[in-house]
Amino acid sequence: MTHEIRPGVPEDVEARECVRVTTWKVAYRGIMPDEYLDALKVEPDAVAGMKEGLANALAEGRTPFLVGEIGGKVVGFINFGRCRDEEIGGGHVFALYVLPEKQSNGLGHALMTAAVKQLRADGHEKIGLWVAAGNAQARHFYERFGFISSGRTQPLPPPFPPVEEVHYTLPL
Ligand SMILES: CC(C)(COP(=O)(O)OP(=O)(O)OC[C@H]1O[C@@H](n2cnc3c(N)ncnc32)[C@H](O)[C@@H]1OP(=O)(O)O)[C@@H](O)C(=O)NCCC(=O)NCCS
Repeated sequence: MTHEIRPGVPEDVEARECVRVTTWKVAYRGIMPDEYLDALKVEPDAVAGMKEGLANALAEGRTPFLVGEIGGKVVGFINFGRCRDEEIGGGHVFALYVLPEKQSNGLGHALMTAAVKQLRADGHEKIGLWVAAGNAQARHFYERFGFISSGRTQPLPPPFPPVEEVHYTLPL
């Protein structure tokens, strides 16, 4: 399946949120409560807020996310930037999602490779990410990519269900 990776623009925000919500309902089944996942939907107010945040980032010259398209449709994305936890530092991957029916075709790897390239160009010497401890598929993907566990753990912060997360790091 041929894919294209490109920087996200405000018009992509709704499609990106749709990919996130659809993928969460499958990937976190059994990890997060069913009632929480079943109620998830794309919220217009949240989308409007995200568009504003993206416009600010673009105005500052930052590229906060990349989208992956197949056949001209957004089917995956990666959000990344500077780590907000000063104790950890470096770059950070905030989210990486590919629609369930498009997984295992190399798009996740391509999105992560493109984000790593950008974070390295931004001067970061390492990147980190948090992943649900019970998300075996994603942990396997990150480990194959070269990420190693840093030993840090935390509960996913509110308003999300209190799922235990583990931290991974990749030296650049
Ligand atoms: C984790 C995730 C982002 C990976 O994206 P993906 O597009 O499935 O990843 P890839 O296709 O690049 O790699 C997945 C596997 O497919 C294999 N693969 C890659 N290209 C392939 C191809 N052309 N044909 C067949 N298999 C292929 C890879 O080798 C890899 O296998 P491995 O992990 O044993 O090495 C995606 O599975 C996902 O969105 N999962 C659910 C959400 C999630 O958990 N996100 C992370 C939250 S922290």
